[in-house]
Amino acid sequence: MSGHGTPIPMTSHPCGPLNGQAEVPGDKSISHRSLILGAMCIGETVVTGLLEGEDVLATAQAMRDFGAEVTRDDDGTWHVHGVGVGGFAEPETVVDCGNAGTGVRLIMGAMATSPITATFTGDASLNSRPMARVTDPLALFGTQAVGRTDGRLPMTIVGAREPVPVRYTVPMPSAQVKSAVLLAGLNAPGETVVIEKEATRDHTERMLEGFGAEIRVEETEEGRAITLKGRPELQPQVIAVPRDPSSAAFPVCAALIVPGSDVLVPGIGLNPTRAGLFDTLREMGADLTYENERVEGGEPVADLRARFSPNMKGIEVPPDRAASMIDEYPILSVVAANATGDTVMRGVKELRVKESDRIEAMARGLRANGVAVEDGEDWWIVKGCGAGNVAGGANAPVETFLDHRIAMSFLCLGMASQAPVVLDDGGPVATSFPIFEPLMAGLGADIRREG
Ligand code: S3P
Repeated sequence: MSGHGTPIPMTSHPCGPLNGQAEVPGDKSISHRSLILGAMCIGETVVTGLLEGEDVLATAQAMRDFGAEVTRDDDGTWHVHGVGVGGFAEPETVVDCGNAGTGVRLIMGAMATSPITATFTGDASLNSRPMARVTDPLALFGTQAVGRTDGRLPMTIVGAREPVPVRYTVPMPSAQVKSAVLLAGLNAPGETVVIEKEATRDHTERMLEGFGAEIRVEETEEGRAITLKGRPELQPQVIAVPRDPSSAAFPVCAALIVPGSDVLVPGIGLNPTRAGLFDTLREMGADLTYENERVEGGEPVADLRARFSPNMKGIEVPPDRAASMIDEYPILSVVAANATGDTVMRGVKELRVKESDRIEAMARGLRANGVAVEDGEDWWIVKGCGAGNVAGGANAPVETFLDHRIAMSFLCLGMASQAPVVLDDGGPVATSFPIFEPLMAGLGADIRREG
């Protein structure tokens, strides 16, 4: 597969203790939403701590394509001069969202109820992912979509000229689908209601409220019902993006499995809809503590301290926790390989439609590096080797399938294996964690670019 330019083969060598402070970048979910909601206000939204990864930069460019002015100061402060709800201009060229499922799905929702037409594309990974999960509910507003077979990108969306409000129950646990419908509901008259059976990350709801929309959330018999009043005048905001718990997961988990490590990861957002991994690690026996717990910008935040934990045990991860750690199963499986006993992960079929089929990608790479894995359609089990007992040294490079989290997970595996772990392409890491290599090197990791 191609899509990120020339592949960048990488090798992660076994290393000594990881020590120090890991300042991970801003939250990817909140960064996308800051730019999109900023573009839907009249006036200037100011964003600090924005994740400057390829995914988010693609969303910034997309917002320019739709008529917003998006600029960056030398100190990393971003300014978005928005066009207001319903004010998007029609892009003159194809909108390229790169590798970003969140970017494309949220932007499709945001433009779906404006009288404009836009064509979206992405890299080979994004162009193979299902979009009907978004275009089906958007059709209820009156939006039309024409894509490739099975609803794949490239795809043209024709916004509804006279949108009607919608009541929609999201059939799978997906914050992207929920958010796309809510963003479309912004420019529909009346009340749009989205119901989710399982709670997923709630950044869109929190941020819509912050931007001044009338939104209420109720627990009902059908699930979590979110009601949004259409056609608000959103108010520009000053946003400090918290650091990303999904990125923090990598230095935290690496520290847990590399002997002698002690790493502090400061200022991590611990919104309960995102923090499932950390609960799971603690249940496995990880030496992971929360220091300096506080509330910042309405979100719980703490400094995470992770120390080498040689006695972790596999557990059955509660399936109802899946949504709160959906992006963290790949790195959890690396920790599981270094624990004793089985780690059982059920109710996770969404992993099959991420940037790659993450169950398949992890199972293949783990097996090739000496870890036993069993898997089925919506479950998988990693058979722990015990601390320090993962062989590594697969015959062929691990395939990363244009998936940043697969790449970073195997780079962490190599740090604690007996022989190095080699990847076919570490380039996708830049989509969400562009400073991963220097940050991990600063802690003591030994990751080398080959060739
Ligand atoms: C995201 C939602 C999740 C997650 C993705 C970010 C978001 O996707 O995997 O990395 O910001 O809304 P799904 O909505 O497909 O579960």
